[in-house]
Amino acid sequence: MPHTSGKMCFVQAYAKINLTLDVLGRRPDGYHELRTLMQTIDLYDTLCLSTSDENCVRVICSQPELNTANNLAMQAAEAVRQRLALSRGIVIELHKRIPLAAGLGGGSSDAAAVLLALQQWWQLPLSPADLLMLAASLGSDVPFFLTGGLALCAGRGEQVTALAGHWPASMRWLLLVKPAIGVSTAAVFRTLPASDYTDGTHSRTVYEALLTGKEPEQKNLYNGLERIVLERYPEVAQAREALLGAGASFVRLSGSGPTLFAPFAELDQAIGVQQQLHEQGYEVFLSRVIYPARGNICVL
Ligand code: C5P
Repeated sequence: MPHTSGKMCFVQAYAKINLTLDVLGRRPDGYHELRTLMQTIDLYDTLCLSTSDENCVRVICSQPELNTANNLAMQAAEAVRQRLALSRGIVIELHKRIPLAAGLGGGSSDAAAVLLALQQWWQLPLSPADLLMLAASLGSDVPFFLTGGLALCAGRGEQVTALAGHWPASMRWLLLVKPAIGVSTAAVFRTLPASDYTDGTHSRTVYEALLTGKEPEQKNLYNGLERIVLERYPEVAQAREALLGAGASFVRLSGSGPTLFAPFAELDQAIGVQQQLHEQGYEVFLSRVIYPARGNICVL
């Protein structure tokens, strides 16, 4: 248990990939109904929170374009202050490693990390349901990051069913390739034709396979946003070809992209492909799945 007298609190915010993503259809509220299996991976941002005498939230980020009120970490801290009518100020130092607008959930994870860190550090009277509500008000992916690990997410993404510890052994290593563009999730969903909608079978089938310890079939590791992203963004199609050309046997888009992931059972294979993509100028991360725990929060 952290001591409450600490002056600062460090927390790690992990990225995610989507193992599957079924878009079922457009809802009356403008969001899309989803079934998606998400998994946290060991690529992370580091946040350091400290209190200040100013009655406001301030963000200092290694990427200056994030020093704005749009920053989800800042919005999370503001939401907590408003919900509990707190006047204590907060400074958030944010060391970004997860690429922005990449389909890896970086902003959402930062927001969830702030909620969890403040709750634990300040021992706030927020119930799990309060935290979930705050998270969902910040973004569709934020509730997933309150627990992380492997989970089936439904609704607009905020209904989370954990499935910890069932990641397939054939996907021990994950190579992530981030083409040098950002993709707007809103723009991808806005232009998604109904012909790309599915009924959720891919996600449900993979969920059931993993629950019973079976390897999921590749045809079900499906992302309903991939076709349109490959069509609209030639940089992503090129990166996919580069991965396949370098020896990856399977490549999938994460979320709305542009990041692609390729799973490998053996490290030497992953490293071989990583080197080739690196030589071609791509931003590449070699990663693995991770199951975050509350121990990620460190009060000093
Ligand atoms: O919830 P979040 O703010 O992260 O979503 C970003 C945008 O992506 C939304 O404004 C919406 O346009 C789109 N979206 C959607 N359906 C979802 C999640 C996101 O249409 N389930």
